[in-house]
Amino acid sequence: MSHGLLLAPALVVGVAHGEWDGPANGDRLSNVQVIKDGALAWGDGVVTWAGPAGDLPPEVGDVRQATRVKGAILPGFVDCHTHVPFFGWRANEFEARLAGLTYRDLHGGGGIYRSARLLAGASDEEVMRFCRPLVDEMLAHGTTAIELKTGYGLSVEAELRQARLARRLAREVSQTASVTLLACHAVPEGRTREAWVDEVCHELIPRAAAEGLADAVDVYVEDIAFTVADLARVAETARANGLAVRCHADQLGHSGAAEAAVGAGSRSADHLNHIGPAGIEALAGNDQTVAVLLPVSTLFLRAEPPPVADMLTAGVAVALATDFNPGTSPCLSVPEVIAVAASLYRLPTLTAIGAATFNAAWVLGLQERLGSLTLGKRADFVVLDTPDPAMIAYRPGHNPVLETWIGGQRVSSRGPWTD
Ligand code: NIG
Ligand code: FE
Repeated sequence: MSHGLLLAPALVVGVAHGEWDGPANGDRLSNVQVIKDGALAWGDGVVTWAGPAGDLPPEVGDVRQATRVKGAILPGFVDCHTHVPFFGWRANEFEARLAGLTYRDLHGGGGIYRSARLLAGASDEEVMRFCRPLVDEMLAHGTTAIELKTGYGLSVEAELRQARLARRLAREVSQTASVTLLACHAVPEGRTREAWVDEVCHELIPRAAAEGLADAVDVYVEDIAFTVADLARVAETARANGLAVRCHADQLGHSGAAEAAVGAGSRSADHLNHIGPAGIEALAGNDQTVAVLLPVSTLFLRAEPPPVADMLTAGVAVALATDFNPGTSPCLSVPEVIAVAASLYRLPTLTAIGAATFNAAWVLGLQERLGSLTLGKRADFVVLDTPDPAMIAYRPGHNPVLETWIGGQRVSSRGPWTD
């Protein structure tokens, strides 16, 4: 059904569009409203009306013929930071951390290098069979658009293979997916950092761009990985090849990557556990670099939480995502991320919803089409099993998403509520 009309006890349209449509910060982010007794109409897969049911214009639809749902309707979640496709889990590393080792301790030989070996040892079909059900599980948790990333290749050919697998996965799943080339994730064994960055800039990025394999390029800036100077160089190459820039910034320690990401014109600075005052100032003072918070990886690594209250007060635009990966965040549920963000970062639920929808879509450059239920955008939405969106944050471990709809089509359901 590409035309439809639903009535809901609560409708969250999402972040309001303004005259200026940069990522939402300040009041624009905190003022996400819940419309009581709302109506959502769509035609040809795009939103034709969203607002109070009592105001529905007759030419749009007749409320007497509408379907009534019992739970709240929200924009579909946009998971703007994942490490899918990957192959295999690393639960024993988690157990080793419980016994006292750190993520840094496990990095040499394990960690990212281990995921690279697992991926190299699997056939394309095995990788697809592993990843497709995970992306379907994301759908059942309300994710209607995702980022897919490379970074477990660690050679030019293996990175290109992972990017091709990501593009194939994107074609085979229901969600909109954009692909990020995390070319600089770990320094390949037997190479120097400088030599790998050279190869990334001279060969990997141009080849990936020529083959249409990536939408953005990401750099992991950390003392165990790459530097802010590497970020600047890779960002210049990415831009010259028509690709956006992303950055893993200040996750395990402070490197000044947040302000460097702003300087490099990055679409986002992600993690930010150890961001300093200069990073907050740089992020607050610009309207193109979003702070992507990844609270489940903070919880999972028992890391220092980023100064979220300071960031919000300063006017930083924040997004929320899963960071779904086998090392630091084996969680694919955005509702769970919202629950952890509430308890760990004190992020109010409606702000978190804006962060996981509109701002996340902005990070992926999809904000014109996705991320809120405003006129002309694709009718991507979820129906909760409760009229109260606060239940998302209040019930960690519970999947509150009853139905997921993409382009006005129901693509996932675990209940008969709409019928
Ligand atoms: O975003 N820390 C860098 N990259 C990932 C983890 C990758 C891994 O451990 O496999 C992250 O946390
Ligand atoms: Fe990550």
